[in-house]
Amino acid sequence: MFQLQSSEPSPAQPQGAPALRRSRSMNPPIRDWHGRRVWVIGASTGIGAETARLLLARGARVALSARKEDALHAVANGHPEARVLPLDVTQHAQVLAARDVLQAEWQGLDLVLVVAGAYNEMRAESFDMARVNQLLEVNLRGVFHCIDATLPMLLKQPGSGIGIVSSVAGFSGLPRALAYGPTKAALINLAESLYFDLHPRGNAVYLINPGFVETPATAGNDFVMPGLISADEAAKQIVDGIERGTFHIHFPKGFTNWLRLARVLPYRWYFWLIHKVTGL
Ligand SMILES: NC(=O)c1ccc[n+]([C@@H]2O[C@H](COP(=O)([O-])OP(=O)(O)OC[C@H]3O[C@@H](n4cnc5c(N)ncnc54)[C@H](OP(=O)(O)O)[C@@H]3O)[C@@H](O)[C@H]2O)c1
Repeated sequence: MFQLQSSEPSPAQPQGAPALRRSRSMNPPIRDWHGRRVWVIGASTGIGAETARLLLARGARVALSARKEDALHAVANGHPEARVLPLDVTQHAQVLAARDVLQAEWQGLDLVLVVAGAYNEMRAESFDMARVNQLLEVNLRGVFHCIDATLPMLLKQPGSGIGIVSSVAGFSGLPRALAYGPTKAALINLAESLYFDLHPRGNAVYLINPGFVETPATAGNDFVMPGLISADEAAKQIVDGIERGTFHIHFPKGFTNWLRLARVLPYRWYFWLIHKVTGL
């Protein structure tokens, strides 16, 4: 997996292959959305819906996907630059078919945002393999279906990019996140790995880690959600982060930075702290 770099080109790194660059912003900044072709997958409700609305308002052409077609049309609201493409991310063929429609209509893509995700709380006492499988299907296999459908287009088009919505629940183990947390940890790893391959080719990669956001997914939570923000605010943080060229877009900072700090503690302290704060 690892190869020490030498001055000689190796078979894994052909002569002339671009290298990772160290620059101020980790992705190319975006100053104008007009004419940019953006595919938001998971755009029917919550964070994805508000992000799609905001991108339309800032001038982008936006394709909106998710299962609930009526909800997608409500978000599009007849906007001339919106294109509704219903799909289920767990159905590989549906994702590929939607990609083909976009390829034919738009001749390419500038940005894919994979927002679709499912959430449930789970502890050891309530472990349920059927619910684990449901999260694995949507949050992992579904995201890989989206990668499979769009990566060839992105690779052909330097300057295009992909954003993956994970969660602070993927930073490190948390109570109640027995199934959800591991799926989101995998997405963090996926976005990091993609950056190594895409950045040197001129493609952007965004790892998006929200804290608690008020959406249908969190409406059933029966505990106080620290740092809870609206889906509007989350969308603004995402779009502003992409415009700045940020790789790791996380918010609200007061909460997410606290968790980032907690995860570098020795485990003994980490478990004590999280137990102390959550009571779990
Ligand atoms: N809310 C939070 O506090 C929070 C925090 C961290 C991360 N996140 C992440 O943010 C993302 C959006 O969540 P949200 O809070 O905005 O929840 P949400 O309102 O429930 O949105 C989930 C979106 O994913 C779509 N989706 C779910 N299953 C799908 C499938 N099989 N195929 C296609 N689309 C599917 C839903 O559309 P359909 O039902 O119409 O298919 C909906 O558009 C998720 O990945 C979630 O894990 C949320």
